Amino acid sequence: MNYENILVQQENGLGTITINRPKKLNALNKATITELHQAFDALNKDASTKVIIITGSGEKAFVAGADISEFADFSVAQGAELAKNGQDILFDFVANLSTPVIAAVNGFALGGGLELAMAAHFRVASDNAKMGLPEVSLGVIPGYGGTQRLPQLVGKGKAMEMVMTAGMIGAEEAKECGLVNHVTTQEELLPLAHKIAGKIMRNSSVAIGHAIKAINDNYTDGTNGFETEITQFGICFGTDDFKEGTTAFLEKRKAAFPGK
Ligand code: COA
Repeated sequence: MNYENILVQQENGLGTITINRPKKLNALNKATITELHQAFDALNKDASTKVIIITGSGEKAFVAGADISEFADFSVAQGAELAKNGQDILFDFVANLSTPVIAAVNGFALGGGLELAMAAHFRVASDNAKMGLPEVSLGVIPGYGGTQRLPQLVGKGKAMEMVMTAGMIGAEEAKECGLVNHVTTQEELLPLAHKIAGKIMRNSSVAIGHAIKAINDNYTDGTNGFETEITQFGICFGTDDFKEGTTAFLEKRKAAFPGK
């Protein structure tokens, strides 16, 4: 597939999506959101993809937010539709993928940019990264899941302060409050993400997909995560990966998971 706003690579089980609008600090316009949906969907459907990394091009930004120029004159209905469509096709979509998604935050991650990083399953950041939800400074609130995912990650009080002040926090503070898992230099950011991806790839991709669902159901209205865990745990017993994992352990060898 040819994309205009993103770059997609797939090599040795690792899919990498790079948002490629550096002159606009990788701001998420409608076309980019659509392309991101298509790329995530295609990589997730390809069973050979074991991990997906999402990052931004250039040295300055992961994503500096939703593209403000596109919605400045929207009506109430158009505003609501913008948030709903974005959540449906990108932010919730990514959060619920069965393939693990790591956000490599390589600079500004603001507004929709931080919301995209938070929709990923976890985050690593470079030491120049700056993160925040500045929407109230524009007279609007986060609309791509930020009011829900930020408190889940950093706690309610810290999220309230970040949203109300519209301020940015640096990478170390983001690590201290649980927003990112690791901080490194800009040069080492992708190598670090690859190293973590490598550790993930050694395990059963099928089991990882079930684990993502069970963890997410702790945060999903109307579902009981413990019940999901019981169901998903049971399903694993019917998979080839489970047979291979347990057999390999008992035979004292490394598992070669078929991914089924
Ligand atoms: N939407 C649209 N365009 C954006 C953008 C966004 N969210 N963020 C940056 N850009 C554009 C700028 O308009 C500028 O375009 P231009 O060169 O055509 O004028 C270009 O990206 C570079 O940004 P600039 O502001 O000149 O860089 P800077 O280093 O001075 O400042 C930021 C960087 C991130 C502090 C600043 O761009 C900013 O505040 N962006 C908006 C952040 C935001 O509010 N995001 C939430 C949106 S809901």
